[in-house]
Amino acid sequence: MIRPHGSDFLIPLMVENPQHHAALQAEALDLTRLIINSAAAANTVMLGAGYFTPLKGFMNKADALSVATDMHTADGLFWPVPVMNLTENGDRITAGSRIALCDPNVPGNPVIAIQEVAAVEKLSTEEVNLIVQQVYGTTDQTHPGVATFGSLGKFVVSGPVEVLNFSYFETEFPETFRTAEQIRTQIQACGWKTVVAFQTRNPMHRAHEELCKMASEAVNADGVLIHMLLGQLKPGDIPAEVRDAAIRKMVELYFPSNSVMIAGYGFDMLYAGPREAVLHALFRQNAGCTHLIVGRDHAGVGDFYGAFDAQTIFDEAVPAGALEIEIFRADHTAYSKKLNRVVMMRDAPDHQKDDFVLLSGTRVREMLAAGEDLPLEFARPEVAGILMDHYARETAEVA
Ligand code: ADX
Repeated sequence: MIRPHGSDFLIPLMVENPQHHAALQAEALDLTRLIINSAAAANTVMLGAGYFTPLKGFMNKADALSVATDMHTADGLFWPVPVMNLTENGDRITAGSRIALCDPNVPGNPVIAIQEVAAVEKLSTEEVNLIVQQVYGTTDQTHPGVATFGSLGKFVVSGPVEVLNFSYFETEFPETFRTAEQIRTQIQACGWKTVVAFQTRNPMHRAHEELCKMASEAVNADGVLIHMLLGQLKPGDIPAEVRDAAIRKMVELYFPSNSVMIAGYGFDMLYAGPREAVLHALFRQNAGCTHLIVGRDHAGVGDFYGAFDAQTIFDEAVPAGALEIEIFRADHTAYSKKLNRVVMMRDAPDHQKDDFVLLSGTRVREMLAAGEDLPLEFARPEVAGILMDHYARETAEVA
């Protein structure tokens, strides 16, 4: 099976031993409590679930700056996005202490992890801007990822963590939330060798369905992992439970049985386009996948990235051999009215724009909100039905 990133074995930081777990819970009662932000909580869940192997905890300032500027930690590990515990409340935390990290996303803010504080350092405004520019490619505050990053605080609390739970992901999405280790185990149980991962934060329409099928065929895959983000999104994105239901229905009706594994991971969307695509590849390698589909505007938002920047970064900025997972580069995919099937545009060079059924995300939302049927060429009717019900409920709640 494909090796985890930078390690011969997966390093999930979740404390599995019940005695040790209980001891940490007891210790936490006497520790300084820090209510972390949602981004740090999501990082904690990813560390706990093994997706961020081989990291042992949160990066210090030197590592974060080094990762932001050239995608390596100070001691040379390839890593595309800083993994930090940023806070505004760093003044009351001391290096060398142990602290209880408390979950902002669960009522009562229970302890999600214990951190051994290696250092508490402050980022200057210039350093914040440098990280943001490098990671998001812009410092524009209208970019949702940039705006979120700016609100996280300037103190970098670094050091190893021991994770106690998976926040709300395990309880809210028991059928879908899976750790990297669980996915590896399931891949092994299925006897799959070549596994294509599909990253998504959206419900899947015909184009996405066909992308998975085309990629699977092209690399001769044994199976597809549809791996959805379950964490925080920007307003207007479809909530995870609705997307989950729509994806499950699509797979049930339109994929051969036992060809798809559906799972989710607990992380907040960064909208960091190319850099996030590299992170996506890295943690799918940790989950045992051999390929990741990267299509049009992967992990993008608005017009901040070129349509295929998230593919070219793998050629231009990821050193050969830094990752073992391979990228399946997908072109813009849509239904061809001429060929009566979904195609990648590069495979239909004689087509004009009007030969495709193309709907913007905004237009799709407008149609669903108005209770209009989506074209069958665009969305499977069962998927559209689930989305329409969601919009009808939302409209009723607002009214
Ligand atoms: S993402 O933010 O999670 O990347 P989304 O769920 O919309 O967003 O996309 C999932 C994957 O499908 C990404 O790799 C994206 O590039 C790809 N994709 C989505 N729509 C298309 C399309 N019409 N043509 C080609 N690739 C697409």
